[in-house]
Amino acid sequence: MKTVYILNGPNLNLLGLREPEFYGHDTLASVETLCLAKAQTLDMVAIFRQTNVEGELVNHIHEAHEKAQGIIINAGAYTHTSVALHDAIKAVALPTIEVHLSNVYSRETFRHHSYISPVVRGVICGFGAQSYELALDALSTILNKKGKA
Ligand code: DQA
Repeated sequence: MKTVYILNGPNLNLLGLREPEFYGHDTLASVETLCLAKAQTLDMVAIFRQTNVEGELVNHIHEAHEKAQGIIINAGAYTHTSVALHDAIKAVALPTIEVHLSNVYSRETFRHHSYISPVVRGVICGFGAQSYELALDALSTILNKKGKA
């Protein structure tokens, strides 16, 4: 059974309350429930985490290196600022998918640049909570291919 870490950055604990025109009405707890159920259908175990602290996200990425085969990350605003996250993802070299609930390219220009995009396998944005489900599908395909000779 493959394990995937699903990591969430700052302010995502406020989902449901926060700018519903961008992020919808799902709460983080409902996104977690959706992800755990989706992972089960793919025979994967999902470990779901959220932190508002950049260094803790770095630590979670390091932990994933020990305990998981892949990472899905919504780094929130750190996406657009964090060299430390870029370095951590590069260092652990696990297949990683970057996700965003909103379509960051239809929003302010400061959201158009991601420090982590160059070191991930792919980016999924704009589908609300479904972005996470699509990322789980993609990661499952990547990990199942990897297992084959
Ligand atoms: C976000 C987009 C980011 O620009 C923003 O800072 C977030 C959420 C998203 O999921 O759409 O916090 O990552």
